[in-house]
Amino acid sequence: MESFDELLAVKVDHYIEHLFNPQDEALMQNLQNAQAADLPTINVSPNEGKLLYLLAKMSGAKRVLEIGTLGGYSTTWLARALPSDGRVITLELDQKHADVARQNLDRAGVADRVEVRVGRASDSLRAMIDRHEAPFDLIFIDADKTGYVEYLDLALQLARAGTIILADNLIRNGRVMNEHPQDDSSRGAQAYNEALATNSRLESIILPIIRENLDGLSISIVK
Ligand code: SAH
Ligand code: DHB
Ligand code: MG
Repeated sequence: MESFDELLAVKVDHYIEHLFNPQDEALMQNLQNAQAADLPTINVSPNEGKLLYLLAKMSGAKRVLEIGTLGGYSTTWLARALPSDGRVITLELDQKHADVARQNLDRAGVADRVEVRVGRASDSLRAMIDRHEAPFDLIFIDADKTGYVEYLDLALQLARAGTIILADNLIRNGRVMNEHPQDDSSRGAQAYNEALATNSRLESIILPIIRENLDGLSISIVK
C-alpha cells in the first residue's frame, strides 16, 4: 500500500488492546487450550471480541446466534455480554472444535448460557427455521466464507425488526476489491458484501478491522 503505515496500524491495535483489554485469565486459557488441541488460530482478535461484547451489550441482546464456534473465543465474549437469563446458540461443523469449545466455555463460567450445536450450519439453521424457533436479537456469522450468502438468507428467517447481524472477515486484506478474487473465501466474502449492500431489509456498514492484516466486520440491522 502507498501511504498507509501497516506497522503503525498494528501498533495502534496493540495500543487499544493494552488500554481496554487487560489480561483476562479465561480468555488467555481459551486460546492456549485451542492451540494445544491444534485448532487453527483464526479466532477474532481481543479488540474485535470486545467490540462484539459491546454491540451485544448495547443492544440489550438476550438471544444470540453464532455461526462458527472454533474454540469458543468469540462465544465467550458474546456470552459475557448477556444477562443471566440470556442464551448463545453456536453452530460448529467440527466435533473436535465443539469439544474444545465446550471445555473452554465451562472453564470460563459461561457454559450455562451457551449451547454448542454440531453439524453443518446450513442444516442447523434450516432445522431452527422449521421448528419456528424464537427470533434472535444478534447473529454473528463467522464460519466458512463460501456459505456466507446462504447464512445471511437463513439468518434473516431467524430475525425480527431490530435484529443485529454481524459477519467477520469481509475485507481479507483488500482481496474482496479484486474484480475476480482468486480464492473461494474472498469470492464468498465479496458476494456477501454485495448481498448486504443490495438487501432492502438491511441497513449496513463494514468496519475495517486491523489484525495481522486488514480485515472487516459488517454491522447490519434488520428494518
Ligand atoms: N468465531 C470463532 C472463529 C470461528 S472459525 C472465534 O472468533 O473464536 C470458523 C469455524 O467455522 C471453524 O471452527 C470451522 O470448523 C467452522 N465451520 C466451517 N464450515 C462450517 C459449516 N459448514 N458449518 C458450521 N461450522 C463450520
Ligand atoms: C479464516 C477464518 C476466520 O473466521 C478468520 O477470522 C480468519 C481466517 C480462514 O478460514 O482462513
Ligand atoms: Mg473470523
